[in-house]
Amino acid sequence: MCPFWRRSSENLSTQKEKEILRRLYDSGVCAIGFEGGEPLLRKDLPEILAYSRSLPLHTSLITNGTLLKSRVDEIAPFVSGIVFVSLDGMEKTHDRIRGVNGCFKRAIEGITAAKNKVSVNLNTTIMAENVHEVEDMVRLAKDLGIKIVLSVAHEYHDADAPAPQTSEIQKAAQQLIELKKKGYPIMNSTNYFRVIAKEKGWKCKPWSIINIGTDGRLVLPCYVHNQYETGVSVFENGIRAATSSFDWEVMQDCVKCNLHCYVEPSLVLSWDLRSWADWIFPNKA
Ligand SMILES: C[S@@+](CC[C@H](N)C(=O)[O-])C[C@H]1O[C@@H](n2cnc3c(N)ncnc32)[C@H](O)[C@@H]1O
Ligand code: SF4
Repeated sequence: MCPFWRRSSENLSTQKEKEILRRLYDSGVCAIGFEGGEPLLRKDLPEILAYSRSLPLHTSLITNGTLLKSRVDEIAPFVSGIVFVSLDGMEKTHDRIRGVNGCFKRAIEGITAAKNKVSVNLNTTIMAENVHEVEDMVRLAKDLGIKIVLSVAHEYHDADAPAPQTSEIQKAAQQLIELKKKGYPIMNSTNYFRVIAKEKGWKCKPWSIINIGTDGRLVLPCYVHNQYETGVSVFENGIRAATSSFDWEVMQDCVKCNLHCYVEPSLVLSWDLRSWADWIFPNKA
């Protein structure tokens, strides 16, 4: 579904990872989400998270959840933000999309083991294969006693994750707005759903997120345009120097993706009052 695992790159050493975190912090970054690949595969993850917290960076994690049950006690003390557990549908759909039987069950066991030790959220990518299950996913989050955040899949050229048809996205967006109104624990802003339904325009501010690949290269301007193919090493050039010399003007009318991690901060940074209100009062759609 995502193309990034196909990249052939070595993991950096623990020291190098820490150096990246230090450089990010020194360049003004205040929050980080460890994504991967799969972050829980790294044995030194607790040490990296501990360093992140010590800077201090607001620290979150995005995981497939299969190792969460066995590793939650090691990581929980250093996650000040959220452990996002990706579930791309109900059991059969998720296992089929991820290509591993039993991974839904393991993710649920992980969530159950972790939710009283650290803040846990469901993280669902809406694709053609699971768009009919968005309501089930929201109800599942409620039953688990956690929140959910949803995003529409981007069709990377070398990934097998077809996005739903526009009409299907519009129907799902309407369902999600209604569920949010009813008080279901949906983290997205209502305006995100309006954006994906094409009821609302937005201006991307890709500079609000700095991505760094596993090899320590900056992924500019965003991972949709870059797909982790090229970039400046953070060890050679300063992060601020690289980001400030990039021609962001070229990107200002881009609406190529509808990824929530770019749309939501862009709405907030555009002083979209409705989005601000949504963050302050999450269930008053
Ligand atoms: C790339 S994964 C890496 C972290 C971790 N291994 C996991 O499974 O969550 C992070 C998130 O990207 C989402 N994702 C994968 N393919 C995508 C696509 N084509 N468009 C948008 N999001 C995608 C996944 O559903 C997952 O929630
Ligand atoms: S809309 Fe998506 S693809 Fe375009 S600049 Fe923003 S994040 Fe990148």
